[in-house]
Amino acid sequence: MKTTDQLIHSAYADLTSCATLDDLEKIRIKYFGKNGSITELLKQVSSLSVEEKKEVGKKLNLFKSDFFVKLEKIKFDLEKKIIDEKLQKEKIDITLPARDENLLEAKIHPISHTINEIISILGSMGLKYQEGPDIENDFYNFSALNIPKNHPARQMHDTFYVDGKNEDSVLRTHTSPVQIRSLQQKKFPLRIFAPGRTYRCDSDITHTPMFHQVEGLVVDYSITFANLKWFLEDFCKTFFDNPNIKFRFRPSYFPFTEPSAEVDINCKISSGKIELGKGDSWMEILGCGMVHPNVFKMSGVEDENLRGFAFGMGIERLAMLKYGMPDLRDFFESDLRWLNNYGFSFLETTDLSWR
Ligand code: PHE
Repeated sequence: MKTTDQLIHSAYADLTSCATLDDLEKIRIKYFGKNGSITELLKQVSSLSVEEKKEVGKKLNLFKSDFFVKLEKIKFDLEKKIIDEKLQKEKIDITLPARDENLLEAKIHPISHTINEIISILGSMGLKYQEGPDIENDFYNFSALNIPKNHPARQMHDTFYVDGKNEDSVLRTHTSPVQIRSLQQKKFPLRIFAPGRTYRCDSDITHTPMFHQVEGLVVDYSITFANLKWFLEDFCKTFFDNPNIKFRFRPSYFPFTEPSAEVDINCKISSGKIELGKGDSWMEILGCGMVHPNVFKMSGVEDENLRGFAFGMGIERLAMLKYGMPDLRDFFESDLRWLNNYGFSFLETTDLSWR
């Protein structure tokens, strides 16, 4: 039988000559498996004399920890080698000819299509296209919109913080920060709309962590709630291509508008299908209201005679109502069968402004 020193020596030799992950595992089992040779020795330590126990026990335990440090290092190197070899082999061959995709069979995503439709209608109604950043700070996303720290409305927003430790940097929870950025320009009359991505930490059949909204803001000296009503009704009738839609302005609350309303349109729901402009059920489609004086103040607008209306709509919701997709999550699954079914051809017009 080998002595302890001989065993230790051969274990190191095995480690040094080991070339594959399989071999490495075999070596571990050979020495430290259930019936491994070092395991056996360790079991025998208890039957030794006190003096021997001290000496052999110490030696074996020191060896054990050193063995596993070396084993982990070798394992790391071997794994890295495997990845490196794989990367070498899987290089992209840039000399291959491009795939012959038929562009006419490709489809435009319903969100892009719907945004284009919204752009054509709001553009023709006199609003200018605006953009804002997806990563906002607390001021634009909350405080300037009359949502101070500890305001309960903040909890409703399920905010994603960009840096866990820094509460100031957020993924915008709505497109309303663009209102502030536009007001800060102090050029009146102001008539803008801003479609774009928004983010909330939420996921189920009617919520996805990323979704789209379009914001609208009109500011002038004689803007009233009546203008807001006419504007939104005209937009919806054009968008849904249906002059018979009925509207319900339901009093609501948003910190940045006063008064505030949510707008419902009438519909008929039968056997899972929704028909707009028929029946006496109501479907909520957007939030709106008159710009709160605090929003003007926080944006540095001092002229107290200015008035404005604002609205915000979910773009997926508009698309689902118009085109009949049942589940919001499918929009972002990248499933080509879904896109083939609900997507749009390049030849389909998105210009609804003439209606
Ligand atoms: N920002 C609101 C939301 O995300 C919608 C809204 C926009 C309401 C503008 C009123 C005015 O729910």
